[in-house]
Amino acid sequence: MELLKEREIHRSRLQGGQILGEGAFGHVVKATLTQPEDEYVVVAVKKLKDDDDPQARQALLRETCIMLLCGNHDNVIGLKGICFRDGPLQLVLEYAEHGSLLHLLWTLRAESKLNRTVLVNKRHIFENMMVEVCCGLEHLASRRLVHRDIAARNILICGKGTAKIADFGLARDMYAVGYHRQDGGNDLLPLKWMAPEGLKNEARFTHKSDVWSFGVLLWEVAQLGRTPYPGMEGADRLYDALQNHFRLPRPQLCTEGRYQLMLQCWKFNEKTRPDASTVRQQLEADPNGFF
Ligand code: ADE
Repeated sequence: MELLKEREIHRSRLQGGQILGEGAFGHVVKATLTQPEDEYVVVAVKKLKDDDDPQARQALLRETCIMLLCGNHDNVIGLKGICFRDGPLQLVLEYAEHGSLLHLLWTLRAESKLNRTVLVNKRHIFENMMVEVCCGLEHLASRRLVHRDIAARNILICGKGTAKIADFGLARDMYAVGYHRQDGGNDLLPLKWMAPEGLKNEARFTHKSDVWSFGVLLWEVAQLGRTPYPGMEGADRLYDALQNHFRLPRPQLCTEGRYQLMLQCWKFNEKTRPDASTVRQQLEADPNGFF
């Protein structure tokens, strides 16, 4: 609680604007935050739809604590502070001007239908973003944090094109695509991004499960934002397929080398998966793997 107090922002400093994202329990709005010298910065404010819902409040507080534990890193969305007095709980976040990587990939797919050369022209941007996400993952691992929801929808792109890992909690609520309810459970889970050890009943997550999800993220980039495993639904079905050595097929728009890297991330036994730093070094050593 002391940590929270240190990061308190008085709500009178915030002026809300357009909605950036909306889910069942909360939404994110664009806002301005007045600074001491009368200047202001644009921020993103995450708040609950029903601030009286104790479970939702708990989830948002948990997300705040994780962000506090995470600390500052160039490739993780920054926490500017939190409003908790005299009104609803509000999380004040660094604003990402270009929105999510998933939307960027959809735009790129539409552009590439008109003109194929955009893919080659923009390749280095996406290569660079993947290296940046790896740097963010290395930072999380160094803080012993597991994100559990690495996917293109949760990578935000800031002004200079920097990729940042976002959404440490409510994400599974914010963007419903790709999430599924486990039988008998209330949580919406990103099954198609989850490593087998997370899909199983024991639901184990380590920094190596984030590496598995990163492999699926590489696949999403090479597939220009398509959804993985089309037509394959359910945790059990997915788990059985993975156990029987089934993997996402090689996207047409990537090299054999890049696909081999994805397959490394999808090693069934997490002990044999590379860590984020090894994946980053491999990306850097072969910077023309997409498109
Ligand atoms: N959507 C969700 N979080 C956001 C952020 N921090 N910046 C921009 N759009 C967002």
